[in-house]
Amino acid sequence: MPFTSEQLLEIRDRFHHADVCPIQGPRAFFENAGGSLTLKAAVERTAELMAFPDNQGRANAASQYLMAIIAQGRNDMKLLMGASSGEVFIGESGTELLGRLIRNATLASSGAKILGSHLEHPATYSAGRRWAEVAGMTYEQVDFDTASTVVSVEQYRPALTPDLAVATIIHASPVTGMHVDVKAIAAEIRAVAPECFIIVDGIQHAAHGHVAVDDYGIDGYVVSGYKLFSRHNFGVAWVSDRLATAPHDQLAGAPANVWELGTRDASAYAAFSEVVRYLEWLGAEVSDETEPRAQLEAASAAIRDQEQDLVDAMMWGTGGLPGLGQLDGVHVVGPEASEHRSGMVSFWIEGHDSLDVVDTLNAEGVRTHARKQDYYSASVLEPLGIENCIRASASHYNTRAEVEQLLATVNRLAGS
Ligand SMILES: Cc1ncc(COP(=O)(O)O)c(C=O)c1O
Repeated sequence: MPFTSEQLLEIRDRFHHADVCPIQGPRAFFENAGGSLTLKAAVERTAELMAFPDNQGRANAASQYLMAIIAQGRNDMKLLMGASSGEVFIGESGTELLGRLIRNATLASSGAKILGSHLEHPATYSAGRRWAEVAGMTYEQVDFDTASTVVSVEQYRPALTPDLAVATIIHASPVTGMHVDVKAIAAEIRAVAPECFIIVDGIQHAAHGHVAVDDYGIDGYVVSGYKLFSRHNFGVAWVSDRLATAPHDQLAGAPANVWELGTRDASAYAAFSEVVRYLEWLGAEVSDETEPRAQLEAASAAIRDQEQDLVDAMMWGTGGLPGLGQLDGVHVVGPEASEHRSGMVSFWIEGHDSLDVVDTLNAEGVRTHARKQDYYSASVLEPLGIENCIRASASHYNTRAEVEQLLATVNRLAGS
């Protein structure tokens, strides 16, 4: 069931700039794949803690306070990711963390090959290519299925060999909006190459669905703060105990499982904790759950329902306006109905450059983004034969009224 209008009001009130761009003015925000709205609580906590001069590891009250916040942040990261073992740490960004995990896993492995897919973001395949070359390994990317725009066991299976050193999986694509069955792919990889380090890019997925690394049988999972209702300048990585203790970049003499490099930004850990508190609150609003993990799962299910309602409205219309799936001359990337679709619809309009459509939408108060064959998206768009498209990426706080605003402009441009 989608949220009630009262629930949506309460939800939106917890975020900054839900209705209004601070620079441009009123707008509907469908650029969540570029970065979600930010929780007010995350901003408040950040500001408070950034003002502290104290360092960690000192015998004073402020230092102890900061260390408790960091410890709480680590617990919350594991809670959100569904990890009962392994280590979590923050890095500069999702890209930096994925690169670090892939580099260290490659150099720690005695395997001969790195494997990924063409659905991936360059954050994984750039690192895979580079470190395979440095380590004298081969690098291979399997195709995704262009009809479903999903990569699955079927595509990975023929490329699996026992000498796999590292395999990467994207959990959800920021171009097609489809999520992938990580557990099934990881199980297939493990069956053929038990020692392979499996690293998952969860950056697009985490704000839209359930994360449960205990169930996946993987070695690394990465999310980004700014894509998950928090802020820029940090990502979070989880590594399995096996990867945590494999040789990796660290200070000489540090315990074998430590991946943190240098002094922590306590405000980032605290901001992440605020995200987890928010999701617990949301879970409690929509269910009778009282345990934190169960609340997070209830929140994920509610987020999925709300986003499905928004996708249905985009696709099949709302407020009397036909949807993207009904308009002549409007083409949707991927199947119109798919259980893999996670809150996003990418599309293009015949006779219109998608970059111009994004500008028009923006001028009319609807923020979207264009995906084109540049080094971020060509790997996905080229096999699909698509030059460029408009990406409308929703989140659970978006409303049908905002979808109506999007459709009003698209209907006009499509000439209906
Ligand atoms: C799937 C995916 N991976 C990686 C990235 C890069 O993340 P970051 O900006 O945190 O480096 C993005 C950002 O759009 C993404 O969507």
